Amino acid sequence: MSTLLLLHSITRYLVLIALLGVIIQSLVGMMQSKPYGNLENKSGLYLLIFTHTQFLLGLILFFTSPIVIFSAASMKDKVARYWLTEHSSMMLIAVVLITVARMTAKKLSTDTAKHKRLFIFNSIALLIIIMAISMSGRGFFGLPA
Ligand code: HEM
Repeated sequence: MSTLLLLHSITRYLVLIALLGVIIQSLVGMMQSKPYGNLENKSGLYLLIFTHTQFLLGLILFFTSPIVIFSAASMKDKVARYWLTEHSSMMLIAVVLITVARMTAKKLSTDTAKHKRLFIFNSIALLIIIMAISMSGRGFFGLPA
């Protein structure tokens, strides 16, 4: 259980770094009309791998962690409600945005449109992740004690 939490905690940094990288890459690509090439495709793929790994780890934690309490009483407690509903739902939205960004950008006809799609969807996902981690009360940086 603690190994899983440690992995989930570390993978957060991989997701954040890859996400920031793709956002900067797509912003530069959009502003300088750069082609969407192999480098962009590879960094997007890494982002997807880290994000989906994080999602799977989170899913296992959701059903095994002692702080996720499946009870109506959890809704009245701020911390219990956060881990039961807010963390998972906000992160799920972010995962969906990151996934849909890549899937739909590939089908767009111009490279500028691809960069724009990736920039908008991934920026919203980043904001949601930052908000969710800030709401956790565990501090933005660090590892589990
Ligand atoms: C991009 C996606 C995600 C990110 C960036 C993320 C990030 C985090 C962070 C930073 C923590 C605190 C770790 C620590 O204390 O050091 C955490 C804990 C947790 N996450 Fe996520 N998470 C994500 C997705 C999910 C999803 C989708 C679920 C559930 C379906 C989930 C379930 C949990 C649970 C249950 C814990 C608390 C475990 C415990 O302390 O016992 N996470 N997550």
